[in-house]
Amino acid sequence: MYIEIKGLTFQYKNAKEKTIKDFSINVKKGEIISILGESGSGKSTILRLISGLEVPSGGMIKINQKVMVDDDTFILPENRGIGMVFQDYALFPHMTVAQNIQFGLKNMSKKEKNKRLEEALGLVNLEKFHDRYPYELSGGQQQRVALARALAPKPSLLLLDEPFSNLDKDLQCKIREELKKIIKQTGTTSIFVTHDRDDTRAIADRVVVLKNGQMIKVGNPQNIIDNV
Ligand SMILES: Nc1ncnc2c1ncn2[C@@H]1O[C@H](COP(=O)(O)OP(=O)(O)O)[C@@H](O)[C@H]1O
Ligand SMILES: [Mg+2]
Repeated sequence: MYIEIKGLTFQYKNAKEKTIKDFSINVKKGEIISILGESGSGKSTILRLISGLEVPSGGMIKINQKVMVDDDTFILPENRGIGMVFQDYALFPHMTVAQNIQFGLKNMSKKEKNKRLEEALGLVNLEKFHDRYPYELSGGQQQRVALARALAPKPSLLLLDEPFSNLDKDLQCKIREELKKIIKQTGTTSIFVTHDRDDTRAIADRVVVLKNGQMIKVGNPQNIIDNV
């Protein structure tokens, strides 16, 4: 299995009970998994654990046979090869589109960086937007820059945290389709979390339903969502 998560458990220091309880999932290479749950169910916390921003109290995460975290190992976030897209896009406001996308490209020649930039911009159809600043872009365009920035380093895993919640409904539908197409085109294994069933239905190959930090169901979106 490409991604293996086993028995992940976590509690915030000031919390009364465990935030994540015995969470396990295996993900195939190229698969898009959606974690569907209400606000406060622990979705963002799971992504923080996977990316290495929090340390679990128990459990194991492996990516491509390599242990990222377990009782003996902790790989730093910057060494995990994970790309992230956040709800608010988190673009650097003082950097252009090109600078934003190239920011995460390390240990590469200038030529290689430029090639990756062009590829990433092409992927999201923003070839002519190199020199724009985030405030000069629409919400949908900022979202695409955030995706291009996450994909440019060719991550082994892409994590998306409610990536559509800041977009209006019409745009949301269009961007969902686009996002799925782009992710599938690059073959990037992805986990995206959302409280919105329509997001899950449109994008996910498989869905995990999360409640109070616990997985309550997993399976095909069509079968699961109608019965949540
Ligand atoms: N830094 C923190 N310290 C303490 N509790 C937190 C912290 N971040 C989130 N929580 C709590 O953990 C639970 C899960 O939060 P979160 O993972 O953000 O849920 P979701 O993304 O599904 O809305 C919530 O009850 C939230 O209040
Ligand atoms: Mg959240």
